[in-house]
Amino acid sequence: MRKTILELGKMKQTSEKISMLTAYDYPSARWVEEAGVDTILVGDSLGMVVLGYDSTVPVTIEEMLHHTKAVRRGAMQTFLITDMPFMSYATSDLALMNAGRLIKEGGADAVKLEGGQNVVHIVQALTRAGIPVVGHIGLTPQTASQLGGYIVQGRDLSSAKQLVKDAHALELAGAFLLVLELMPKQVAHQISTELKIPTIGIGAGLDCDGQVLVFHDILGLFERFQPKFVKQYAQLGQDAVQAIKSFHDEVKLSHFPATEHTFGLSDEVIQKLYGDK
Ligand code: KIV
Repeated sequence: MRKTILELGKMKQTSEKISMLTAYDYPSARWVEEAGVDTILVGDSLGMVVLGYDSTVPVTIEEMLHHTKAVRRGAMQTFLITDMPFMSYATSDLALMNAGRLIKEGGADAVKLEGGQNVVHIVQALTRAGIPVVGHIGLTPQTASQLGGYIVQGRDLSSAKQLVKDAHALELAGAFLLVLELMPKQVAHQISTELKIPTIGIGAGLDCDGQVLVFHDILGLFERFQPKFVKQYAQLGQDAVQAIKSFHDEVKLSHFPATEHTFGLSDEVIQKLYGDK
């Protein structure tokens, strides 16, 4: 059964960890649901791991919508969060229109957006309109260049304090879940302890209320780079290359298709086809 926001909140109260994994299409969504993962994120990381962009910045609302629809078709029973792409929530009006589409057309249960105190008014506008919002602080990939690149955030006193302030501001604005990306475990611990809403960590240590990773990273399907916080549970990319190479070789050697992959005619039809000549 699809978890509710209330149930996700209860999981924090009862210290049950929340699992979240990204998915971007129908088959990945089916596998994630079959594995029993609590929540699916259609992350704008799809721009990099599926569409081959250099960052998440070029991702459009149409692309997020397209992938959200496919994921929803593959995972009808799983709570589904979709990322709002860069500039799709630059104003409250824009945010309402785009988030509304992800929920109404895409089938998402909630939207996620990046930022702290600077996006509080957007979070308020969305939650007032009845759209559930997930916050995302720490390393925020859409604005990574402003943050000095893909580096750990909150390492000095003032930036650590700012992250804690941002977390409280987002909770107060109505966010029901908060992603903490790439920050010292002590900062994530403090935020997770002080907040009532669950925190989901990625490169933020064990003390978050749940953990999220990228589908392609844990399965070894994205080999351009691998951050320190990723654990690879399989190397499917290499398995795929081997399988594809076997297909290629068998075509060259005329070993494929074999009899079991081939259709034939009955003797009677063959006789009629060629015998009457
Ligand atoms: O886009 C994404 O996949 C994300 C997660 C990794 C948190 O935002």
